[in-house]
Amino acid sequence: MHDLSLQDFIQRIPKAELHLHVEGTLEPERLFQLASQHGVQLPFDDLSALRAAYDFRDLQSFLDLYYAGAAVLQTEADFHDLTWAYLKRAADDGVRHTEIFFDPQTHTQRGIALTCVLDGIGSALNRASELGLSCGLILCFLRHLSEREALATLEAALPYKSQLLGVGLDSSEQGHPPSKFEQVFSLARREGLRVVAHAGEEGPPEYIWQALDLLGAERIDHGVRAIEDDALMRRLANDQIPLTMCPLSNLRLRVVDRLSDHPLRRMLDAGIKVTINSDDPAYFGGYIAENYRAISDALGLDRDAIGRIARNSLDAAFIDDTHKAELLAEFDASESQGRGHAPERAANGCEADRSAPQQES
Ligand code: HPA
Ligand code: ZN
Repeated sequence: MHDLSLQDFIQRIPKAELHLHVEGTLEPERLFQLASQHGVQLPFDDLSALRAAYDFRDLQSFLDLYYAGAAVLQTEADFHDLTWAYLKRAADDGVRHTEIFFDPQTHTQRGIALTCVLDGIGSALNRASELGLSCGLILCFLRHLSEREALATLEAALPYKSQLLGVGLDSSEQGHPPSKFEQVFSLARREGLRVVAHAGEEGPPEYIWQALDLLGAERIDHGVRAIEDDALMRRLANDQIPLTMCPLSNLRLRVVDRLSDHPLRRMLDAGIKVTINSDDPAYFGGYIAENYRAISDALGLDRDAIGRIARNSLDAAFIDDTHKAELLAEFDASESQGRGHAPERAANGCEADRSAPQQES
């Protein structure tokens, strides 16, 4: 992208990140440093060998490396430091609110206590306001495991429910339809947790229908393959179901062959509430602003389209109305900057009081 003003606009426009796996922010340098600190053997001699392995064929080839990498996360401090590094990076990209996924089963299965993970991530999230960010935490169930294991995970997490915003569903999609997890999502909803699910990344449009109708998903993570089903496109548009799309992830996992093939623009034009996110930025070559830049470049998105997408992200966040109104007012002021008609509120310095953002719960 050569339009510097568009780059600057992307960077500074207030936005929410709604699809980010904290384990996917594990940069190669930290991975190596923690492996050496904890005596974890890696099948890579050096950073360049590790980076060379980031040449994925599909979702599963990525997940194999991602789960292997997560094994270096062993202490509360590791989870804190990982999360804090992400929050700083996100704030630099103009993120004002973030809802972070974590995969407890990836850690409890190898003997790490749930409280170690929750306390480590939580202690970083509790300080997010220092960076001008608000945040929430979403517990994801691994769909390649059984519903019984997901239920046991939810039951173990319920004592810490106040630290959670919601639940999600991730990992290997093909062959693991949302219908496999109806009971656990029903329990989560009864417990007052918000619901999202990965669907239509590699799996068919049918999985998106199921996520909506069987799990009660309020947002769909990815949703790329909805483009194959006109009735589903109408449903997403009519019900204003947000899609948390991740262009660089889709490119690197070969969900699309080229970014210029990505359906994001067609979905936006169909009236669907599209958002842009980074998924696993340490593995896919870019944090949120880079995702905005790359897809804007590939699809020729202009300032209006980019603004709509960023506004969608604030609108799709699981935050209360007051907080949303504050963020949207901040967005409006920022968006009109440089157009020569900044609102008086911004010009006279009397912006609404933006007291320290709170962690949503
Ligand atoms: N899809 C499914 N599971 C995941 C992903 C993803 O893109 N990233 C981390 N876990
Ligand atoms: Zn994801």
